[in-house]
Amino acid sequence: MTVLLNDCFLRALLRQPVDRTPVWMMRQAGRYLPEYRRVRERAGSFMSLCTTPELACEVTLQPLARYRLDAAILFSDILTIPDAMGLGLEFVEGEGPQFRHPLRTADAIRQLPIPDPEQSLGYVTDAVRLIRRELGGRVPLIGFSGSPWTLATYMVEGRSSREFRRIKGLMYEQPELLHQLLDRLAQAVGRYLAAQIAAGIDAVMVFDTWGGVLSPAQYRAFSLDYAAQSLDGLPRERAGRRIPAILFTKGGGQWLEGMAAAGYDALGLDWTTDIGEARARVGDRVALQGNLDPQALYAPIPRLREEVRAILAGFGPGSGHVFNLGHGVWPDADPEHVGAMIEAVHEFSPAIHAAGRNA
Ligand code: CP3
Repeated sequence: MTVLLNDCFLRALLRQPVDRTPVWMMRQAGRYLPEYRRVRERAGSFMSLCTTPELACEVTLQPLARYRLDAAILFSDILTIPDAMGLGLEFVEGEGPQFRHPLRTADAIRQLPIPDPEQSLGYVTDAVRLIRRELGGRVPLIGFSGSPWTLATYMVEGRSSREFRRIKGLMYEQPELLHQLLDRLAQAVGRYLAAQIAAGIDAVMVFDTWGGVLSPAQYRAFSLDYAAQSLDGLPRERAGRRIPAILFTKGGGQWLEGMAAAGYDALGLDWTTDIGEARARVGDRVALQGNLDPQALYAPIPRLREEVRAILAGFGPGSGHVFNLGHGVWPDADPEHVGAMIEAVHEFSPAIHAAGRNA
């Protein structure tokens, strides 16, 4: 197996000692980079980027050529699973994702197939194998999936939503049917992540972008339980190395204790939670990833650097922190500011870890 030249990201996720805090960024391959926009134009559409392994590989590696990042993330999308289930994904310019066949009947839900990833999502596993080869062990490769709940919101609404009228309607009127859907999605997510692991990814992340629109009881019953189930039977090791799993619920700061007991190695935090308080609450049960406000990238660089320092100091000495934004980087972020953020983590964090060792 490939030797990893830089494994500080994996070590931090497993709360092992590191010399400095690893850093990567959600949506690090994306529209804020002019080189991404050029390849995207050449590809013609976002989906053709995702389904052409050579192009997916090229854009995955772009941010690594620019910045000292400690992880690469597979270029793909969470909506590939519903597409493989037959919903017909389309990205309409300026409108975001839409499905040609949203789930609108009980029969459609009951008949939903669970895709065989090597068959219907072979473009993803092919991309993983290619990226891994091109990375040559420079940094670990993150694979990912949407959480069952977040996938269900898009599949039932048919597109991005603010009101969640249909899915919440389903939840209140036919909760058993929604449970059936989530159960199938948990199986599909598990199989998809297992295929990514077999193809060579080094860590998995589950994006629960819409968990935060639920009440506490709903969050546990309709989101967290199925995010936990998605890990059932998942190989957590390859060739003797642990494959860490990260759970990110946007708006999930009030549920960290429950999330920490769901079987994940690390939790992603958005910027509305204080990272020091979060650490005190989860103790040594999980590592934490986050959590700079993505809009801090609009600040002047000296101010941005202070925000980076505050997050690092907020977590404090000791292992178990991966630096990241609290959500994806915005398309209008300045690449120079992104670079300044990453360099600030490299500059400030070694002293914190040295202090931890001498304490
Ligand atoms: O992080 C990375 O660099 C890896 C790639 C990645 C993308 N989407 C690429 C992408 C990842 C991890 C995702 C996850 C994803 N996709 C989520 C969960 C994470 C989150 O942000 O909360 C969600 C909810 C989606 C669904 C999705 N995909 C939406 C709502 C959109 C439209 C967003 C917009 O601003 O237009 C996408 C499209 C998408 N996925 C883009 C990228 C780079 C932009 C498409 C383009 O180039 O035109």
